[in-house]
Amino acid sequence: MAQLLITGGAGFLGSHTCLVLLEAGHQLLVLDDFSNSSAISLERVAELAGVPLQRDQPTLKATLEAFTLVEGDIRDTQCLDALFTSAKAFGQPIEAVIHFAGLKAVGESVQQPLRYWDVNVVGTQRLLTAMNFHHCRTIVFSSSATLYGYPHPNQIPIPETAPIQPINPYGASKHAAEALLADLAGCSGKPEPIQASSGGWRIARLRYFNPVGAHPSGRIGEDPNGIPNNLFPFITQVAVGRRPELTVFGDDWPTPDGTGVRDYIHVMDLAEGHREALHSLLNSDPQLLTLNLGSGQGASVLDVVKAMEATSQRAIPHRIAPRRPGDAAITVANPTLAAQQLHWRTQRSLTDICRDGWAWQQDNPNGYGEACL
Ligand code: NAD
Ligand code: UFG
Repeated sequence: MAQLLITGGAGFLGSHTCLVLLEAGHQLLVLDDFSNSSAISLERVAELAGVPLQRDQPTLKATLEAFTLVEGDIRDTQCLDALFTSAKAFGQPIEAVIHFAGLKAVGESVQQPLRYWDVNVVGTQRLLTAMNFHHCRTIVFSSSATLYGYPHPNQIPIPETAPIQPINPYGASKHAAEALLADLAGCSGKPEPIQASSGGWRIARLRYFNPVGAHPSGRIGEDPNGIPNNLFPFITQVAVGRRPELTVFGDDWPTPDGTGVRDYIHVMDLAEGHREALHSLLNSDPQLLTLNLGSGQGASVLDVVKAMEATSQRAIPHRIAPRRPGDAAITVANPTLAAQQLHWRTQRSLTDICRDGWAWQQDNPNGYGEACL
């Protein structure tokens, strides 16, 4: 059992991972500024885990219980220092950090590159500075398959050694944060995905492919702001009648049915991948791990439409439109290294993803927006 700090823990991926980590017996301190989430997700995580959610301030007033929430910004150095200092003062020093907090909308990053660098790069640097000062040198970092840019067809499925070529400010900010982590580990410029690290740092850079779906209870799931940019939440909103039709961006890609192919990974598989990465770091010598989290299976836009139609027993009206600028034809992970290193692989299928994502959407047609706890 470890005392963990989870930044961005109220968000989509953070909330599901909190549940898995609570179930594994860890004590969690969540730091979130709610810029893209609400505390309702964590109330529901607490309910599912059967523990109370304790709310506190950065200068903790009380001994940490299983699950504590502090509202604050990862760029706020005083807030970070207060958290590490007061946890230590209560005899519960933070042993490791899982760092989800960040901005993730590709289009928005093109409009607001400074904001993306500020939160994703400066925020990460301030977090690492506080960790370093307080001798907490274990971190699992949310990276992204977006680093692979437009992968070359002969590099599908994509290994971790594929060229890194971010094609938008979001990707550039994740690349910069990855580089900072490599520098800390003493591994600057070395491409190997598994390396010994100097200076005592234990670091996992996890490159997610397309995380989707929801917890099978239907109590927590993805709650995008406004019109979803991403395929899966858009499809579930069409199925539930919140939007009239799906726009399919291109049917002339070099793929079997002409629509874009992605590696969709169930959010619970992804959450379990974090648990395994954390345990691997805590039980190993200092190292830098760089691992894809994906299923290794590709599904096209039309595959997802069909799977959701079968699950929901509803037609999903869709029309073909031109390709979306910046899209790749195919991104599918080579997940071999994560399987070897973490003894982890995805357990859930596209059918499971649709079943759980649909249950969440039906029970929460407006996400957490009008939710009663
Ligand atoms: P999310 O927006 O649901 O969660 C991010 C959380 O961070 C939110 O709760 C938000 O309020 C919080 N946050 C944002 N800025 C903050 C700040 N300055 N201080 C404190 N909290 C802050 O996103 P998600 O889908 O859960 O993604 C989590 C991480 O995974 C992000 O870093 C994202 O870039 C990365 N990622 C996500 C995907 C995906 O498809 N969801 C894919 C690859 C990588
Ligand atoms: N698509 C549509 N219609 C839509 C939305 C998407 O046809 O309304 C298509 C896209 O063209 C693409 C596929 O569905 O072929 C998947 O698109 P998403 O937007 O769901 O996902 P992306 O692969 O483009 O990107 C996502 C995140 C990125 C992240 C990347 C890899 O948005 O931030 O996965 O993890 F980097």
